[in-house]
Amino acid sequence: MKTTTLQKMTFDDLPQVLASAQRAFHYPWTFEMFRDALMAGDEGWLLLKEEQLIGWGLIKNVLDELHILNFCIEPAHQRQGYGRHLLAALIARAPEAKTALLDVRASNFSAIALYEAAGFRPMGCRPGYYPAARGREDAILFSMPLTPAAAGRQYA
Ligand SMILES: CC(C)(COP(=O)(O)OP(=O)(O)OC[C@H]1O[C@@H](n2cnc3c(N)ncnc32)[C@H](O)[C@@H]1OP(=O)(O)O)[C@@H](O)C(=O)NCCC(=O)NCCS
Repeated sequence: MKTTTLQKMTFDDLPQVLASAQRAFHYPWTFEMFRDALMAGDEGWLLLKEEQLIGWGLIKNVLDELHILNFCIEPAHQRQGYGRHLLAALIARAPEAKTALLDVRASNFSAIALYEAAGFRPMGCRPGYYPAARGREDAILFSMPLTPAAAGRQYA
């Protein structure tokens, strides 16, 4: 993992990030969603290994909250610890935040396992939030305290 680097995402990276999202998600963000996030000032980060894209994430700072908007490891590189590493790196980008927040599809067991292992806990549900093959799917909201005493600050 020491050989990976974190690089700020720019508009020029979006074609590559979009292609990655299309490989990793059944319902990927569109180009416009990525573009609008960057235009709104949200931070995107690329996880690179020898200039190869391993994963990426987008975060938004709202007062003392860190919102993890989207997050992905390339399918070919999953289950090698990169997701845990990138999640920690994204959290470390917001040293002033007191809480980290995210939402995830109720059926996304791999992401839920990662978030729970990292210290996130479920705090609510948005019924029918996501499109799905049959109708809609719930979003589970997760949060993690980032106070210095909290386990999450091991990432800072
Ligand atoms: C979710 C995702 C980011 C995990 O990334 P990853 O690099 O594969 O995860 P890691 O190898 O760092 O795994 C860390 C921990 O997460 C959990 N985990 C990750 N993938 C898992 C899986 N397929 N099944 C069960 N647990 C899993 C495990 O607890 C794992 O720890 P372990 O390997 O010691 O058992 C990746 O699967 C992904 O990008 N999926 C598609 C996009 C996505 O769903 N993004 C999240 C949107 S909310």
